[in-house]
Amino acid sequence: MFDKELFEKYVATSWLGRSFYFFEEMPSTNSFAKKMESDSSLHGTVILTDYQNSGRGQSDRKWLVEPGQNLTFSLIFEPQKAERFILLTLACALSVAEVVQAKTGVKTEIKWPNDVILNERKVCGILTESQFFGDKLSRLIIGIGLNVNQTTFAKELDGIATSLKQEMGEPFDREQLLAELLQKIEYRYRQWSQFDPKLVRQVNEKMIGYGQWTHLQLNGQKLDGTFKFLGVNEAGEFVALDEELNVKIYSYEQLRLVE
Ligand code: BTN
Repeated sequence: MFDKELFEKYVATSWLGRSFYFFEEMPSTNSFAKKMESDSSLHGTVILTDYQNSGRGQSDRKWLVEPGQNLTFSLIFEPQKAERFILLTLACALSVAEVVQAKTGVKTEIKWPNDVILNERKVCGILTESQFFGDKLSRLIIGIGLNVNQTTFAKELDGIATSLKQEMGEPFDREQLLAELLQKIEYRYRQWSQFDPKLVRQVNEKMIGYGQWTHLQLNGQKLDGTFKFLGVNEAGEFVALDEELNVKIYSYEQLRLVE
């Protein structure tokens, strides 16, 4: 089981994860984070579970993982404005990619919209959800599923999903890993809130396919022609040129790069 006390010894952030909830089992950390009531700010709260029995993925898919093997958690942020939250999600993907690369010594990448790729397979998925009070953003929930020590995956994920242990052949300390992830995410959050242009550059350095002509799929439908993926902009949107050299900007998680 995840050792909350051990994690609390390792964690060295100043605000992220200082309010930390652990549950052995629950439906979904994102759903819980959405329903949490509080008189005071929940900014920086982290909810982690060892087993999600109704985990949710992008595009209404399920997120199924084995109990007690991975890092399955949600971060709550309460930024002043709803703008640029795609970039904040990418900043979290970048943080995961950097920590996984440092731990394994294997180059990691980000695949639009925000999957983290290790050895050409998905090691982490992210689901961001927002809540509004009137037209003001009240809560941003970034749910992260990082495959750590799981080594068997459903048949349909064969060749698609992987974990740190699957790639390296050895188990990883989840408490230490989470402490390092939160430290990195806290740093990247600061860059994001300060509009630091380095953040966008560093996200783009890790993005699969930037600078290349590719096919795109939107809501499952292949778009006509090819597009040159130029990278993400300062809002975290996907910027491409079509064959007539018109600039196209997409912000949807339903957009995919395809062969
Ligand atoms: C994807 O489809 O790639 C996104 C998967 C996101 C899974 C995480 S696990 C923690 C959080 N709670 C959920 O129900 N989903 C996210």
